[in-house]
Amino acid sequence: MELQYLSGVSHTLQTVAFATIIFGACVFLSQVNYRAQLAKLPALVEEGSSEKKRTNYIKYGKQLYAEGYEKFSDRIYRMATIDGVDSIVVPPQFLPELRKLPDSVLSFPKAVDEAMETKYTLLLTDESLLVHTVKGDLTPALARLNPLICDEVNEAMQEEMPACEDWTGIHFYGTIVKVVAKASGRVFVGPELCRDDTYLDAGINYTMEVMNAQRAVKDMRPWLRPFLAPRNHSVKALRQREQQATEFLRPIVQARRDAEKNDPDYQKPNDMLQWMLNRSTDEEKYPTARIARVQLGLTFAAIHTTSLTTTNVLYTLAVKPEYIQPLREEIRAAMAENDGVITSRALQSMEKLDSFMKETIRFDGLGFTSFSRKVLQGITLSNGQFIPPGVIIEVPSHAAYQDAANFPNPEEFDGFRFAKIRKTGSAVDKARNQFVSTNEQNLFFGYGAHACPGRFFAANEIKMILARIILEYDIKNAEGQTERIPNIESGRGTTPDATKMLMFRKVRI
Ligand code: HEM
Ligand SMILES: *[C@@H]1O[C@H](CO)[C@@H](O)[C@H](O)[C@H]1NC(C)=O
Ligand SMILES: *[C@@H]1O[C@H](CO)[C@@H](O)[C@H](O)[C@H]1NC(C)=O
Ligand SMILES: *[C@@H]1O[C@H](CO)[C@@H](O)[C@H](O)[C@H]1NC(C)=O
Repeated sequence: MELQYLSGVSHTLQTVAFATIIFGACVFLSQVNYRAQLAKLPALVEEGSSEKKRTNYIKYGKQLYAEGYEKFSDRIYRMATIDGVDSIVVPPQFLPELRKLPDSVLSFPKAVDEAMETKYTLLLTDESLLVHTVKGDLTPALARLNPLICDEVNEAMQEEMPACEDWTGIHFYGTIVKVVAKASGRVFVGPELCRDDTYLDAGINYTMEVMNAQRAVKDMRPWLRPFLAPRNHSVKALRQREQQATEFLRPIVQARRDAEKNDPDYQKPNDMLQWMLNRSTDEEKYPTARIARVQLGLTFAAIHTTSLTTTNVLYTLAVKPEYIQPLREEIRAAMAENDGVITSRALQSMEKLDSFMKETIRFDGLGFTSFSRKVLQGITLSNGQFIPPGVIIEVPSHAAYQDAANFPNPEEFDGFRFAKIRKTGSAVDKARNQFVSTNEQNLFFGYGAHACPGRFFAANEIKMILARIILEYDIKNAEGQTERIPNIESGRGTTPDATKMLMFRKVRI
């Protein structure tokens, strides 16, 4: 009996072992096949140890993408990046054929999952509720909401900016991120929470904490991650944020759901939280904890991106004082024509400001690449090259911004470059040269079906903040600093240096 049992176990073990070997061999063979397919693609950097390639990439990412853009104008190539994994770099000319491919072939959420280690950070990437609410409710409501957003911006600026009677040094990033969080908060969570500093700070901190946790997980050996990651302090901090956001939202969600059921005269608030509730009437499927994670995902996508972009524009403006006067005139005229209110029409007519923002990010954006996607099924390109499944692709957006074929005299900063095109160009030119435009030459907000749905809201908010600053303050660099405050560059990333100060002084009338 006992023997039989043992032999049964041993038989099972043998079967398991056998299956494991077969499985392992398949994985091994597919790896060999995968490596062979990858090896067929040209590499930008052939020589050097993988550690050398990694440190080179971190230090010289911008130059490497520029070199690749020159050398491989009509071919894709591979390049070692941060994690020792090759990235496949695709010239922009292939974008029109790639945009037609469905998510089952070329996936945006899977690329984010990999970059953000969402298995452990639990950052929401594939939540249609978020995208549908931004696209279907927020963007169409902007014309109606802009005056309200503008009031919130003005109030937040009043609270966060010091008096500046004389030249005053301000850590601009830290100030503006609070303004953006407050003004966006009014639209995202509504009147109950948008003035709650703890809630707003929790949202601001969450993004940093996701980045910390992602870094911590990436630093662990892959096979140890399932064991180590859930125990890591940085990862556990995210669970606390999720809990905290749920507790903040619970009474509000409950009150709104109750009022809807019980009060026939209930007027639903106009905000993202309500639109999310509108779209999630199935409370079993959408408990408050899930709504809280969608709100955290929204915060992650919206707050720092908008604040960093505003900071980029102001860092550039601080060393180009000749633009201040024409911008002030344009903003004053736009407001005068709209009864002193920053309406959608007023925003639309600020073409010089829009152009200056766009020209700024042609030099200093938030990354040197765009259109990061995970390839789930092999793709044969029109030039015959094959992209094997499993790889991450990206497009060298910054190199495209510096290409004379796209932007004449690319090395020259011409703040009103796009305003001039919009004044004299065709209808197509006008549409292709706005801050929010997404196309093969303008990749700041991504490209194709997943291009940023929040870009219309973001552009409006940034313009409202800049309009207010430009009308009310003179701006300059801190003493002794003549060049633009340099961005911090690492690999494919570039961000304005958040630790630096700018000088502000109230305009004397
Ligand atoms: C200046 C500020 C912003 C920048 C630079 C930015 C940039 C981007 C980029 C590059 C993508 C990926 C697009 C792609 O790969 O094709 C994206 C996606 C996304 N953004 Fe933004 N974004 C900004 C502000 C916002 C705001 C304010 C919101 C919400 C109101 C938002 C919501 C989203 C969402 C939900 C996605 C995912 C889209 C999808 O899954 O299809 N973003 N954003
Ligand atoms: C956010 O982070 C800052 C700086 O680390 C900290 O002082 C603050 O208490 C945090 N706020 C919240 C609500 O966690
Ligand atoms: C886990 O988190 C801590 C604290 O945030 C971090 O300093 C540490 O390096 C992480 N541990 C591992 C193994 O990555
Ligand atoms: C959704 O929310 C808005 C509030 O902006 C409300 O006016 C609208 O009627 C709601 N739609 C539904 C189906 O409840």
